[in-house]
Amino acid sequence: MRGDNQTDSPEDPLVNEPAENNQRTAFYSDVVAGLSQDQKTLPCRWLYDQRGSELFEAITDLPEYYPTRTEVAIFKQHLPAMAAAIGSQAHVVEFGAGAGTKTRLLLDALTAPKSYVAIDISADFLASSMASLAAAYPALEVISRVGDFMQSAEMATMQLPEGNRLAFFPGSTIGNLLDDEIIAFLRSVRTALGEDGQFLIGFDLVKSEDILVLAYDDAAGVTAAFNLNLLTRINLELDGSFDLESFTHEARWNDRDGRIEMHLVSGRAQTVGVNGDLFNFKAGETIHTENSRKFKMDSFIALTAEAGWTFKETWTDDKGYFAVALMG
Ligand code: AVJ
Repeated sequence: MRGDNQTDSPEDPLVNEPAENNQRTAFYSDVVAGLSQDQKTLPCRWLYDQRGSELFEAITDLPEYYPTRTEVAIFKQHLPAMAAAIGSQAHVVEFGAGAGTKTRLLLDALTAPKSYVAIDISADFLASSMASLAAAYPALEVISRVGDFMQSAEMATMQLPEGNRLAFFPGSTIGNLLDDEIIAFLRSVRTALGEDGQFLIGFDLVKSEDILVLAYDDAAGVTAAFNLNLLTRINLELDGSFDLESFTHEARWNDRDGRIEMHLVSGRAQTVGVNGDLFNFKAGETIHTENSRKFKMDSFIALTAEAGWTFKETWTDDKGYFAVALMG
């Protein structure tokens, strides 16, 4: 395996880009900028430290959280057709690789895949899942990259050898982005992959509000713990003074923008310190921590078309909860 510690030229921004200090500096400036806005906000990528990544994996097993199991069922049923459409000897790049469960399903279905580039924001999590992936697929060249897929998509994609190039982006993680960001991201992948490149992407569909809200506010409180872990992380890494007892998790359906929003709600008026800076909260004031877009099929096709992609085939489940598309 060309591994996690692979050394490249120093100007390559992907080389374990967040050397710990840069990572901390970036986290700090995002927190200060986000908490200084009228609607306080924190970028959702910071949810995924080691603990956050573990909590997200636990979310995927919750009865209320339908996306992962629905998408996996779509893959299990349709991967032979997907693999036939993709073709043999693929060079695969995956954005936000996570635990690698879907990666394995895809690699098992593909005919003689050649190489696999994984990019993920959580360094430790990525290292352990990619080490076991490399061990399980000895014929495959495995390269892992730590970074934010938005910032590093093009670089990671350009690591792929020439040939049958495939971008893989399951999980509806695309739904964390705003429309403009989606178009910019899909365009940069298109440019980097070249005209013959293909994209296998999973995206979540609009459905009834109660199903959506429960999926992001489960009875066992795992999603609440996942959201609140962001404050724990600020306390630990940025010398923060968040009182975890006085913030609660909220999942909201924003109908106008077609998205579930996660917020952290301050239960009382309070002042919180972060590395010496002070931030005031009114009672009931929130920090907006994540958007999770739910698409209508047509509007998703229109968005991807704006970025230069054409839908080749789409697969969905019986209830029409989730969709996977192959674009070229
Ligand atoms: C990993 C971004 C796809 O939006 O459904 C799960 C993250 N947040 N529960 C999603 C998440 C709260 C998840 N994605």
